[in-house]
Amino acid sequence: MREGAGGETATQLLHRLTSYEPGRHWTAPAGDPRVVQDLQVNDEGRLPWFVKRYPPGLPRLPLPRELPATAAPAISVLAGSARVAPAALDLPHLSRLLYLSAGVVRTMERPYGVHPFRAAGSAGGRFPLELYVAVPGGGALPPGVHWYDPLEHALVRVGPAPRGSAPAVVVTGVPWRTGWRYRERGWRHVYWDAGTMLAQLLALADSAGLAAGLYTTFPDVAVAALTGADLVHELPVAVVGLGDTSPALVSAGAAATGRVDVAPVEFPLVTAAQRAGERDGLGLPWDRGTLVSVPALTSPPVEAVIAARGSQRRMNPARGLPQDLLRTCISVAVRGAGVPHWVALHDVEGLAPGVYRWPDLHAPVRAGTLRDELHRICLRQALARDAAFVTIAATGIGRLDDRQYREAQLAAGLAEGRLHLAAYALGASASGMTFIDSEVPPLLGEPLDALLFTCVGVPAYASAAAGPPGAPTKVRRVTRRS
Ligand SMILES: Cc1cc2nc3c(=O)[nH]c(=O)nc-3n(C[C@H](O)[C@H](O)[C@H](O)COP(=O)(O)O)c2cc1C
Repeated sequence: MREGAGGETATQLLHRLTSYEPGRHWTAPAGDPRVVQDLQVNDEGRLPWFVKRYPPGLPRLPLPRELPATAAPAISVLAGSARVAPAALDLPHLSRLLYLSAGVVRTMERPYGVHPFRAAGSAGGRFPLELYVAVPGGGALPPGVHWYDPLEHALVRVGPAPRGSAPAVVVTGVPWRTGWRYRERGWRHVYWDAGTMLAQLLALADSAGLAAGLYTTFPDVAVAALTGADLVHELPVAVVGLGDTSPALVSAGAAATGRVDVAPVEFPLVTAAQRAGERDGLGLPWDRGTLVSVPALTSPPVEAVIAARGSQRRMNPARGLPQDLLRTCISVAVRGAGVPHWVALHDVEGLAPGVYRWPDLHAPVRAGTLRDELHRICLRQALARDAAFVTIAATGIGRLDDRQYREAQLAAGLAEGRLHLAAYALGASASGMTFIDSEVPPLLGEPLDALLFTCVGVPAYASAAAGPPGAPTKVRRVTRRS
């Protein structure tokens, strides 16, 4: 959809008006009346609910708390080279998929209450995603459209069994949950976080031999109706079909309407950007990419990596990482993602510091030590300086329509999520990272739009392991070094 005489699409407009630049604090709105101006961000007095809520009385099904174990090494799963026997999706497998991608695995006492941390990372710990499972009749799973309750690890039946063939996970996003801190830029975060979470969901499915297909083109209005999402405060983001046939997405009756908060704020730019990309039909599932050949490094199974994963708050700048690890992490991260990546190397064995355009590690596009520059570009967050390397997903958004823009942000999140898993699988650590948009073209030497950064480095401490269903680990806040 074109907007205005300049031919700027709704998503390009949102991207421009949510781009950070030097001289304006990230909490301040851009001076444009289309951006909500009268919102006080980070106001704990109106902290959004962390999960959706429904009226009492809907049928609830506690999910199995014993999760099936898998054995394939996480790196070979991510590389597409693991040999795993095909398995049928049953309730224990579904329980594993949901818990280890979106369940509450850690909790932290904060002045405002208990902050639930979910299995996959989320920019700013906002966790804007909701998951539903659409199950047609006649299979091993309970038919119906079920909302996944991540606090109780249970399914809540919110609608009748959909028409169609294979069960599907539907991912929605709540823009107010991220907008509370990041304003309209939070819509980008919804897609980053969805990609991050889906990296885990797909790896979990692959490691168990379950067929899974990621769809980012789907009939938005129909999928929203299936889940009860209102297309303003809750937006359909992605679908994962769990089977070899087409996902069951045709609603057979109205879904119960829950609420995302008492009085969520609408961001009209977000609503417009989301709705401009709506489509009527189901596209093809993502091509998962060909198998990538990576060095033979040993790694634990996917569930062990996820349990150990946490976004590293402090990295050790005095220590670098081996080149094999760098090559493995980025190779598996970008497999099938279709988004160009650059990498700023601070300290990787055998490679000169500088910025390189992946996969060319022979000649940097910019040579030299860039720790201070990355620190500045990443809003003076120490991780970008102290990491061994920082990946940068970037593209020219001028070429993307409103749907492709969403997909590019999600693809950047998918790569971030896989980078995270691969780093932890190999004993390193990682964190997603935000950036000052206007500083990225000079860094890369091209007029590109940054999508997402990821820092990978040597951990300065070990994250507390995730707790099992029903017993999330209680953690305390890690103090940042700067
Ligand atoms: C897409 C994305 C972007 C992130 N950006 C930042 C960032 O700019 N700075 C930072 O310190 N952490 C960042 N994080 C890490 C989150 O703060 C972290 O995931 C969240 O607090 C949840 O903690 P956990 O990952 O340990 O579960 C990011 C994470 C994701 C997934």
